[in-house]
Amino acid sequence: MNINCFSAADFGCKIGLWQSIKILSILNRVYPPQMPIMSLFPRSLLVTSALPYANGPIHLGHMVEYIQTDLWVRFQKMRGHRCFYVCADDAHGTPIMLRAQQEGIPPEQLIEQMAQEHQADFADFGVLFDNYYSTHSPENRHYAQLIYGRLRDAGLIATRTIRQAYDPVKEMFLPDRFIKGECPRCGASDQYGDACEACGATYAPTELKNAISTVSGAVPIEKESEHCFFRLPALTDWLRAWASCEHIQPEILNKLNEWFVAGLQEWDITRDDPYFGFEIPDHPGKYFYVWLDAPIGYMASFQNLCDRTAGLSFDEFWGTDSSTELHHFIGKDIAYFHTLFWPAELHAAGFRTPTAVYCHGFLTVNGQKMSKSRGTFIKARTYLEYLDPEYLRYYFAAKLGHGIDDIDLNFDDFMNRVNADLVGKVVNIASRCAGFITKYYSGRLCSTLPEPERYTEAVAVGEVIAAHYEQRALGSAMREIMALADRTNQYIDAKKPWIMAKEAGQEAALQAVCTQGLNLFRVIMVYLKPVLPRTALRVEQFLRDQPLTWESRQTPLLDHGIAPFEPLLTRVDPKRIQAMLHASRTPTETTPPATPVVPSTAPEPIAPTISYEQFAALDLRVARIVAAEAVPEADKLLRLTLDLGGETRTVFAGIKTAYSTTDLIDRLTIVVANLAPRTFRYGVSEGMVLAAGPGGKDLFLLSPDRGAVPGMRIK
Ligand code: MSP
Ligand code: ZN
Repeated sequence: MNINCFSAADFGCKIGLWQSIKILSILNRVYPPQMPIMSLFPRSLLVTSALPYANGPIHLGHMVEYIQTDLWVRFQKMRGHRCFYVCADDAHGTPIMLRAQQEGIPPEQLIEQMAQEHQADFADFGVLFDNYYSTHSPENRHYAQLIYGRLRDAGLIATRTIRQAYDPVKEMFLPDRFIKGECPRCGASDQYGDACEACGATYAPTELKNAISTVSGAVPIEKESEHCFFRLPALTDWLRAWASCEHIQPEILNKLNEWFVAGLQEWDITRDDPYFGFEIPDHPGKYFYVWLDAPIGYMASFQNLCDRTAGLSFDEFWGTDSSTELHHFIGKDIAYFHTLFWPAELHAAGFRTPTAVYCHGFLTVNGQKMSKSRGTFIKARTYLEYLDPEYLRYYFAAKLGHGIDDIDLNFDDFMNRVNADLVGKVVNIASRCAGFITKYYSGRLCSTLPEPERYTEAVAVGEVIAAHYEQRALGSAMREIMALADRTNQYIDAKKPWIMAKEAGQEAALQAVCTQGLNLFRVIMVYLKPVLPRTALRVEQFLRDQPLTWESRQTPLLDHGIAPFEPLLTRVDPKRIQAMLHASRTPTETTPPATPVVPSTAPEPIAPTISYEQFAALDLRVARIVAAEAVPEADKLLRLTLDLGGETRTVFAGIKTAYSTTDLIDRLTIVVANLAPRTFRYGVSEGMVLAAGPGGKDLFLLSPDRGAVPGMRIK
C-alpha cells in the first residue's frame, strides 16, 4: 500500500497506518460513509500556535497562523476527538524590556496590557483557545529550570567565555538587531548588526563600519562574558533520525538536510543582566535566552490548563510513553527553533517529541510585504473595526494549503470571493428555500427527502472534505464545499421552486424541494462550521437545530420546524475596505526641506564675547530622554520628555531630521534648564537641548560622559 508522506505526518506515527488506510478507502469511495469509524478511534491531541511576542499588537500576518490552527482544532473537535488548543504570550527578551523602559512602566505591566489586547483580538476573530497563558509564569520557570537541569546533568550544556558587542552608555550587551552601521560589503548605511538589507550579506556585528548602538547612540565596545551553550551537535544523529516526513513537511525536511550538511552549531542560551527573563539557577546575573523558555511555554500553558481541569493529566500529553498527539503550527521563519532545538531539547530532557510541526508561509497584502505607509500593515483590531472576521477566516481558508508558500491578501479578490462563495452560493441556498417553507408550510419541513441519493452524496463527500481538513489542505476543502454548493444551486435552478409556487398541484413537491435544499444547506454548514463558527451558530438558531457536529450531517432534518429566515451574512462593502486601509495608513513622512548646510570646512564664526556672569547665569543640566515623539505638523520638531532627576520637562527640539524617536529613548543629554518657557503652536517648551552641527542630518546631540546622572549641573 502506498501511504503518502502527508497522511502519516498528519495523523501521527502511532495511528498513521490506520488513518491512512481509512483515507485511501474514503477517497476510493469503498467505505460506507454512514459508518462513524472516526468515533471508534477517538484521538487525543494537543495543538499549539506560536506564542506572539508581547511587545506589539496582533496583525493580519499573525492571523494567518491563528486562523489556520483554530480551523484545524475546531475541525478535530467536531469530529469528536479530544483536542486541546493552547497558546500564550511570549513575554521575555530585550525588545520587551526596552519597550517597557521607553514607556516608563515595569515590563510586568507592559506584558499584562499586551496579554489583554492579544486575547481580545483573538476572541473577536473567533480563535478559541482552551488556554491562553504567559511565558512569564511560575509553571514556565519550573519547566525551563527542569529542562535546563536535565540537559546540564546529561552533559549537554557547555560553558565558555565569548566576546560580544556592549553598549558602554546603557551598560548592556547588544543583540545584533540593536546595532546599526555601514555594511562591510556594499557600504550601505543604516544596516542592522546581522545582515544587510541592501546586498543580503550576513556578518558579525563587529564587522559593521561606524557601528552605533540604537539603544543609546553610543559606539559599541567589545566585552567578554561567560555563556552557556546547548550542545546541539551531540544530538545530530538523533535529529537526523527524527527529521522525516512523518513529522515535518518535505520543504522543511530539505532545509533540515541542508543544515545537517552544514553542521549543527552549539546554541547560546544565555543572556546577561539587564534582561527580562528567568535567571539561570546556577549562574547568577545570567538569564535564559527568550527562545529557550518560549517553546517551553507550550508546556507551561498546558500545565496551567491541567491544574484547572479535573482529569486532565500533564504526563499523558508530555510523557515519553504518550499515546497522545502533539501538533505545533508555526510560521516558516521559526522552523529552526521548532524542528531542531525544540525536539532535541525535549528528547534529551526525557519528554515526548512533537508528532508534527507544520509551517505556513508569510502573508503579503496586495502582492507586497505589509507596509505602514501603504496602509497594508493592518492590525487585527483595525480590521475588526471595519469588517466581519468570518470573511477573513474564509478567505485564508480558501488560500491555505499544506505547504509553506506565502499567501497574498488581495482585497479585490477577497471581496469577490467572499461575496461570490459565501453570500452568492452558500447563503443563497437557504434564502431561496426558506421563504416558501415559512410562507406555505408554517415553517415545517416535510417528512421524507426526494432524491435521497443526492443527500447521500453530500454526506459522502464529507469524508473527502475531512481528509483535506486533516491534511490542512484547507483550500481544497473549501473548493470541494463550494462545488457541493454549486450542485445544490443547480438542483434548485432545475426545480424552479418559484414557478412551482405558482402552479396548482405542486404543493408537496415544492415542500420536498425546499426541504432537500435546506438539508443540503445544513450539510454544507457542517463543513463550513470550523471556518464560520458565528454564522454556523446563526444557522443552528434558524434551523432550530442542535449544535452541528460532523456526525450530525448523517441525519437530515425531517418533519421539523424552522425559524423565519434572516440574513446570515452580508456582502463585503468595498467602502469599508477602503476605510480600513485608510485607517491603517500612518502619515507618510514629509521630506524635510533642504536645510542650508554650512560646509564643514567653513565653521560658523564665533559669537560676540559674553561676561563670566552671563555664562554663570546659564543653568545647564544632565537630562535623560524618557520619551520622544514627532510633532506631525512640524518638519523638524520632536517633542521630548526629559527627566532632570525627579523633575519632568517637555522640550521641543529641532532634531527630527537627524534622529528617529526610538534612537533617543533613554539617552542622556544636556538641557538649558533656566531658559524662559516658549509657547509653540503644539505646546510649551520648557528648556532647550544642546546639539552641534550645521543642521539637517548633521546634528549631533551632546551627551555627558559615563557616570553622569540626570539632574547634575554642568559647571
Ligand atoms: N515569539 C515568537 C514565537 C515563539 S513560539 C515558541 C514569534 N512571535 S511573533 O509574534 O513574531 O510571531 C508569531 C507567529 O506569527 C509566528 O509563527 C510567525 O511566523 C507568525 N507571523 C508573524 N508575522 C507573519 C506574517 N506576516 N505572515 C504569516 N505569519 C506571520 O515568532
Ligand atoms: Zn550590503
